[in-house]
Amino acid sequence: MGEPFGKLLLFGATGDLAQRMLLPSLYGLHADGLLPRDLTITGTARTEYDDSGYQAFAKDALERFLPADRKDESTIGTFLHRLRYQPLDASTLEGFDELAKKIGDVSSGLAIFLSTAPSLFGPTIKGLQSAGLAGADVRIGLEKPLGEDLKSSCEINDIVAEAFPEDRTFRIDHYLGKETVQNILALRFGNALFEPVWNAQAIDHVQITISETVGLEGRAGYYDTSGALRDMVQNHMLQLLSLIAMEPPAQMNGTAIRDEKVKVLRSLRAITPDQAPHLTVTGQYGSGAVAGEIVKGYDEELGRDSDTETFVAIKAHVDNWRWQGVPFYLRTGKRLPERHSEIVIQFKPVPHSIFAQRGGLLQPNTLVIRLQPEEYVRLLVMAKEPGLDREGVRLREVPLDLSLTTAFAGARRRIAYERLLLDLLEGDPTLFVRRDEVEAQWSWIDAIRKGWRANAMKPKAYPAGSWGPSASIALTERDGVTWQE
Ligand code: BG6
Repeated sequence: MGEPFGKLLLFGATGDLAQRMLLPSLYGLHADGLLPRDLTITGTARTEYDDSGYQAFAKDALERFLPADRKDESTIGTFLHRLRYQPLDASTLEGFDELAKKIGDVSSGLAIFLSTAPSLFGPTIKGLQSAGLAGADVRIGLEKPLGEDLKSSCEINDIVAEAFPEDRTFRIDHYLGKETVQNILALRFGNALFEPVWNAQAIDHVQITISETVGLEGRAGYYDTSGALRDMVQNHMLQLLSLIAMEPPAQMNGTAIRDEKVKVLRSLRAITPDQAPHLTVTGQYGSGAVAGEIVKGYDEELGRDSDTETFVAIKAHVDNWRWQGVPFYLRTGKRLPERHSEIVIQFKPVPHSIFAQRGGLLQPNTLVIRLQPEEYVRLLVMAKEPGLDREGVRLREVPLDLSLTTAFAGARRRIAYERLLLDLLEGDPTLFVRRDEVEAQWSWIDAIRKGWRANAMKPKAYPAGSWGPSASIALTERDGVTWQE
């Protein structure tokens, strides 16, 4: 890592992500004095703003999306000074020279962030090249979706690679920017306790759940062509699975960590078409109530009939020595009863219970890693209930709780993009997704979709506010496993 870059160029600067995440994140870094002193941020999109028009736009976004305790008029003022704007229709080559002129000298380094539809990636890269904005001083960050299958993902990667070598290409998965996701590495490799039991000898199964209460959120155009499998599993869930299942990397750097993650992705057992109906479940929410609010069903929200899945559950296997025979149950969906992301490591029962004859019942240990909204690690262990045990031993499962929020009280919880934008400016690739990872992810996902097509599988209806279709419960119950709720 060298000096942080001195210029940032945001494509999609008026979009939803820019308003909700990117501008508030950049503001957060600015407010904490973490941005290079002279860093300028140039926004570009089709809307015809001048600099002050965009500054007003950004101010409005900050007013709406910054938490109240972070809003400070004078800091907002100094932040807005960094912002410039150049209107551009990225689908044509015209306008890129103007953009280059606006940005000026890039010898202090230019970081580009593409938060646009992937159909614009090709023309944008060509435009950047033609305007001399793809040289050795420039690195590029790419926001998802990076394709809709392996083929289109390879096409995008090829186009990008023509202008930007892999070491200057930063593919974003915002889950990797989340503090608790990075904490998986600290938990596993910063403690001697877990690694000896982190394998098929001691672990019965793993559950990964990302449940959301939201529905389409005005993103129908994108979401209906994507669905839960491609929107959430291909990226975020497989990243979580890789971090849980990977071998210990030799070092904490981008190459070592990503080498280990990609080995996991390549060890995922492909789900063949005949297995797809048994190992996967898809669902689509109907009308119902979420957190006391009556909500429409997916089709009604969309305004037409659709077969897009808003829920998916999968029983996956990692075929290597460490994980032989350990199912990884993955589940994600929209309009579920609550918003949470959680990893559950279910250990095996003790080999022999000395309490059984005295009536004592044991539960196997469970490690729960809650990523959001609360951030905690909870180990469920057996303890004896106080008493004289005259009618048998009474044992109870009790939690050993580590609340990260309490342990690090006072530390500000940053938006994932703060970390990622700073790493992009500083050139640290550790938390970005390498090309071989994305392509291994897509291969696995493509096989599942092939199975869905071969079996003409349609999503099963589930009421909004429930935990998905009953088939998702059956997926685990068949193995004697219950989803942690
Ligand atoms: C995005 C998906 O990548 O992640 C959204 O496109 C989803 O559909 C979001 O809502 C979830 O992110 P988070 O950080 O709210 O869990």
